[in-house]
Order: sequence, then structure tokens, then C-alpha cells
Amino acid sequence: MKSREIRPSVYSVGAIDWDRRLFDELIPLPDGTSYNSYLIKGSGKVALIDTVDPPMGGVLLNHLNKLGIENIDYVIANHAEQDHSGSLPRILGAYPNARLITTPKCKMMLIDLFMIPEEKFITVNDKETISLGDKTLEFIYAPWVHWPETMLTYLREDKVLFPCDLFGSHLATTDLYVTDEGQVYEAAKRYYAEIMMPFGTSIQKHLEKLKDYEIDIIAPSHGPMYDKPSFILEAYRSWVFDPPRNIVVLPYISMHGSTQKMVEHFVGALVERGVTVKQFDLAATDIGKLAMALVDAATMIIGTPTVLIGPHPNVAYAAFLANALRPKLQFVSIIGSYSWGSKAVEQLNGMIPNLKVEVLEPVIVKGFPREADFKALDRLAGEISNKHKEHNIIES
Ligand code: FEO
Repeated sequence: MKSREIRPSVYSVGAIDWDRRLFDELIPLPDGTSYNSYLIKGSGKVALIDTVDPPMGGVLLNHLNKLGIENIDYVIANHAEQDHSGSLPRILGAYPNARLITTPKCKMMLIDLFMIPEEKFITVNDKETISLGDKTLEFIYAPWVHWPETMLTYLREDKVLFPCDLFGSHLATTDLYVTDEGQVYEAAKRYYAEIMMPFGTSIQKHLEKLKDYEIDIIAPSHGPMYDKPSFILEAYRSWVFDPPRNIVVLPYISMHGSTQKMVEHFVGALVERGVTVKQFDLAATDIGKLAMALVDAATMIIGTPTVLIGPHPNVAYAAFLANALRPKLQFVSIIGSYSWGSKAVEQLNGMIPNLKVEVLEPVIVKGFPREADFKALDRLAGEISNKHKEHNIIES
């Protein structure tokens, strides 16, 4: 596929990774991804914004060759992570005059990662600009998109924002711009949930800072571009600013059916009380779906059997993940069963120190649940419903 012009002398020159199914050997990619890179030919200078994942470096170079690019003056590194920076050594080798523009922090990271010589770098301050002749690039500091060194680049004359990971979506598509808003909303929310949710406070600041800019196009480094920026800006605003919703997220495992029975009863009890439930069997679930559900939920209830005194390892992983992602949860509890002894509650509670939540009284059952256990589950469902009402948690 050829590179495509998105504004006069501004080209999309990245690569689509249709078949990648795992990022960081951790994050599921059900729809593949892309590594978007952009070339800007000013009347005086040429700049390349971000590169691509190393195995795709040839795609980027091929685009540049076909555009007849013999010289690049500036390569902008908005972010040091390798899916955008990994082809920098190859690009700098092919275009030896190029200087690398980035933040001081990103410079040090790129030296650590790729041993790029110090003299290749130009570091910029927040809101500093460089001129390409008839086009001007402004660099906007935005630390902690999910790493500390990140910045955004704004092309003033064309009102295009290049935010790298921010607003991105892991979505392989030939569409240059968003065509299916529902599909992109889900992919972008998944991406936000998996890597940016722990930095929600920083993302809030970035959104506030961007209010000063007139933006016609958002051109992220993953997924399609936004020619209606309000779509993704409003989505982000709801994810980071809105209070949590009247939703219980229920990740669970059942080994022999006891915890399953409790989950079934409990979900019914919550729904009867007007609470929305998102249930995830951790033996089968896509962990990205769980992360997405955590963006909006007010409560997480963990369902676990007992394995060697503690929680099932898949449940421990889900608790670890929720703790790391720091969602807006306000309440947590645990339900489950054991046969001869359990410290699952104590162990799980010890695994979620980052969650600033009220821990509700758990329901732990010896063996298969009985009438009194179902009543205890009803009590917990009622408590959750009341807490949601008392805290004015908004409807799902
Ligand atoms: Fe797409 Fe943080 O890299």
C-alpha cells in the first residue's frame, strides 16, 4: 500500500500490523494494530514524526523511497517506546543528516535503548517550535501518557495534532480516518484501559492543555486518524473525568461449581436491585475486556475458589492487574468457596493497596453454598446497591 497525503505535503507513512495478537507479550490485540508515522515536507525542511516497530522498518523506508525523500532534516520522537522508536537507528542510518528532536528525558531513554550518539539530538522545551519553512511544528510536553518522557507535536498551519499513543487504538485498518465510530470507540477504550488508566490524572492535565489548540485532525500513532476530533476528545473526557457508574465488575473462577453457583445467584441479586453487572470467567476471558469494564465501574467483586490456601492464580492475576490499572473503583469485596481452609480474602486484600476503596464484608463459603450463604449474597448485593445510591453513583 502506498503512503497517503493527509494534508498538502503531509503524508501517512507508517505500517499496518494485521496479524499481531499480543503486545508487550501481555496485551491481547484482537484487531491487530498499526504503527503510524508521518512525513511533513515543508518548503525548507523535511520532518518525520515517530517511526515504526522494528520488524516493520522496511515498510517505512519503502514509503519514504517511493515519495522520493532523499533527505530528512528532523526526526521527531514523541515517545521512547520501541513500537515508535525502534526503527530510529535504521532511519538515522538511511538519512545521516537527520537530527533527532525530543524531550531531554526521552533523549536519555533513547540513548539507553539504542545507543544513539548524543550529538544527533536536539532537545526542546514545552511549547518550543521549529520551522520547516511554510510549516511550523510546536512541541507540547505531556509527561506520563504512560511513560514519563512523552510529548505531543502540533502542526500549526494545518491544525494537525500528532499525539503518539494518546488517543490511539490498536486497530489494523486501511481506513485513514475513523469510519466505524463504534468499533474505534471500543478499540480506543481498550487501549486507554490497558495502558493509560493508571495515569488518569496526567491525562486530565493533557486534555485541559489541549483546550488551547484548534485541532482539525488528530493523527495518533496507532489506529485510524480522527477528522472529527470531538469524538475521541469527548470519549477521553468521560473516561478520565466522569465519576464511576452503577456497575459491578465480577472477575471470577470456579473449579468445581461452588463459586459458579454463588456468582449466578449474586448476579441475579444485583440485577434485581438495579445494578449492572459485567461478569468475566477468568478461565476464558480476554483480559482487555476486563480492563475496559474497570474504566467505568464503581465496584469490583472478585469470585474465587481456594487453591493451596490462597486465591486461584488466575484470580490473583486479575487482582494484580486491577491494582496496577488503578481504576476509579470505590468498593471491593470477595465471594467464593473453600474445602478445608482459606486465606484467600486476606491474600487478595493484600494485593490491592493501590485501590482507594471501601472493602465490603466478603461472603466465603465452606463447600457448596446453602440457603444461609445465598442470604449472605443477597445482603452483599443490597449493601452494594445502597452504597451506589448513597454515593450518587451515576447510572450505567
Ligand atoms: Fe505505542 Fe507506548 O507505545
